[in-house]
Amino acid sequence: MTRQFLRCFSTAVRLHAKVVPNNLKGKSKSSQEWLTRQLSDPYVEKAKIMNYRCRSAFKLLEIDDKYKIMKPGDVVIDCGAAPGSWTQIAATRTNASGAKSHLPKGTVVSVDVLQFHPVAGAITLGGMDFTLPTAQEKIRSILAGKQINCVLSDMAPNATGVRLLDQENITRFCYSVLKFAVSMAAANSNLVVKVWDNAEVPKLEADMLRFYDNVKRIKPRSSRSNSSEFFLLGRGFKGTEKTGN
Ligand SMILES: C[S@@+](CC[C@H](N)C(=O)[O-])C[C@H]1O[C@@H](n2cnc3c(N)ncnc32)[C@H](O)[C@@H]1O
Repeated sequence: MTRQFLRCFSTAVRLHAKVVPNNLKGKSKSSQEWLTRQLSDPYVEKAKIMNYRCRSAFKLLEIDDKYKIMKPGDVVIDCGAAPGSWTQIAATRTNASGAKSHLPKGTVVSVDVLQFHPVAGAITLGGMDFTLPTAQEKIRSILAGKQINCVLSDMAPNATGVRLLDQENITRFCYSVLKFAVSMAAANSNLVVKVWDNAEVPKLEADMLRFYDNVKRIKPRSSRSNSSEFFLLGRGFKGTEKTGN
């Protein structure tokens, strides 16, 4: 057996085996559950192998592979971007670093309330609450009149433990992102927002449909099946004039 085969084999075993952590002593029940889940999650391992900062990368990869929401030269805003795996993908797919000199160079601006390490090619704004006018003004000034081709939001509030409140908070985030996107979107642009399923989602979908040709619910394979998370994808921004606003 060659060394390469052995390496692939051991990676495959690690990707499928249920790993039991050996350092759980003294940790709370929720930390123990989190550690166990992380260690037996194939996407966590895959993210390490592919140099993505976290497993969320695979959610955006799946969405973009299927719906082609970003292309070289695009302007993309990533809201709730830390630690930065969506930004890594957006920077690559838009050619934000200009690595492919034969293709147009894109622009990626990423915002998070937490500080996070810069991502090659992207403009990262850490320590900024996206929902505040100051953060949105900062993005506007960076773009200097350029319109946005794609707005991404994987933003999630800190869970309070009160389901209704958490759902209300994430829905508030979605509206903040939608309002911002609509104010700066290029014709035919796209919008992805994360939601946690709740009674307000149909209204949010209807509101997105006022501005986008098509709105779809997406539950990527890498999104945990026991999570109420899914994404709303709005495609084909149609402008604000026809909406009566
Ligand atoms: C699920 S994580 C995003 C992961 C990211 N998409 C990635 O691939 O690395 C959700 C993020 O939303 C951020 N967040 C929560 N509230 C925010 C706010 N008001 N403004 C900006 N970011 C916020 C959190 O700090 C957290 O980093």
